[in-house]
This record gives sequence, structure tokens and C-alpha cells, in this order.
Amino acid sequence: MAELGRWDLLINCAGAGVFGDVGTYSVDDIQEVLRGNLIGLIAMSDAAVRVMAGTGGDIVNVMSTAAKKLRTAESVYTAAKWGAKAYTRTLRDAVKSKGFPIRVFEVYPCGMDTHFWAAARRPVTDGSGFPSPDPIATQVLDVVCGSADSYCLELTFERA
Ligand SMILES: NC(=O)c1ccc[n+]([C@@H]2O[C@H](COP(=O)([O-])OP(=O)(O)OC[C@H]3O[C@@H](n4cnc5c(N)ncnc54)[C@H](OP(=O)(O)O)[C@@H]3O)[C@@H](O)[C@H]2O)c1
Repeated sequence: MAELGRWDLLINCAGAGVFGDVGTYSVDDIQEVLRGNLIGLIAMSDAAVRVMAGTGGDIVNVMSTAAKKLRTAESVYTAAKWGAKAYTRTLRDAVKSKGFPIRVFEVYPCGMDTHFWAAARRPVTDGSGFPSPDPIATQVLDVVCGSADSYCLELTFERA
């Protein structure tokens, strides 16, 4: 990672949706969900710790309100997001205990009208009824880019 130079900010926002009732998932479906939503988030966060340990930085992990609920038609996606939440909270404790100057943010968006739904396998909606992601992204950046002695470590978004 040294060749990548200094990192001040990592935003983990990758993720794909694969949905369906229990009993309908192939191994490929499961891997597709875990790749971006969990494995990628962990791999990038871990790499960021190596790069940021000395110089400091911010890690922003974008998950979903699925990480706070049990959605039976989204069991694998829900599992990936709960796993990402468990990892992110452990990561924050770990960097704090090591004294690394790294802030770790948890972001839990509600449904948003993005390409996510067109790309999803067996989507539960086309996403067109959901709000734009832009105000959510703006609010996240306002918090992350603000400078203060204390910070808001968890942002959860619900539809107004
Ligand atoms: N849209 C929603 O309703 C909603 C709600 C709550 C949470 N979220 C979460 O918000 C995050 C952003 O989603 P979005 O709505 O902005 O959807 P998006 O526009 O489809 O963006 C998701 C991005 O993740 C990338 N990606 C997916 N799997 C990947 C993988 N295995 N490796 C690398 N990149 C991968 C996609 O790349 P390609 O385009 O190249 O495939 C895409 O650029 C995701 O984590 C999603 O789970 C979305």
C-alpha cells in the first residue's frame, strides 16, 4: 500500500443486492452479495489502517438500514450488512485501543433511487419510489469534513 501514498479518507460504498426468499440462493448469489458489501469493505478498511496508522484519516463505511433490521426477503444482504456493521464497530474499538488517529464512521442509508436496483438480482423494487441519494451524500460529507473535537460516529437515514 505504500506505493499508493497518503490516504486521508476512505469511503466504502460498493455493494450489490441479491434478494429472494430463503431456500432460493445459489452459492454464486451468496458470493456476489458478500464480495462488495462485506469482503471489499473489510479488505479496503484493513488496507486503510495500514496506510493511515501514522498519519491519520477517516474511514466511512456505507451500509444500510438492513444492518439494523431482519428482512426475511433479504436474508443474505441483511447478513452481509450486519457483518459489515460488526466489523466496523470492532474496527473503531481496535484503532482506538492502538491509539491510531483514525475516525471510523457508520452510515446506514434508507432506500435510495440509484443504479443499485437495476443491477440487483431479484430486486424487491425498481427503486423509483425512493428518494434521491444526493442529500444523504451531502449530509455524510458535511459530518465527515467538519472539524471538531468530537464527531458523530453513526448516521442513520430514514425517509422523511
Ligand atoms: N440504493 C439503495 O436503496 C441503498 C439503500 C441502502 C444501502 N445501500 C448501499 O449503498 C451503497 C451504494 O449503493 P448505491 O445505491 O449507490 O448503488 P450503485 O449506484 O449500484 O453503486 C454501487 C457500486 O458498488 C459497486 N460494486 C458492487 N459490487 C462490487 C464488487 N464486488 N466490487 C467492486 N465494486 C462493486 C458497483 O460497481 P459496478 O457498477 O461496476 O457494478 C457500483 O459502482 C451499497 O453498499 C448499497 O448496499 C443502497
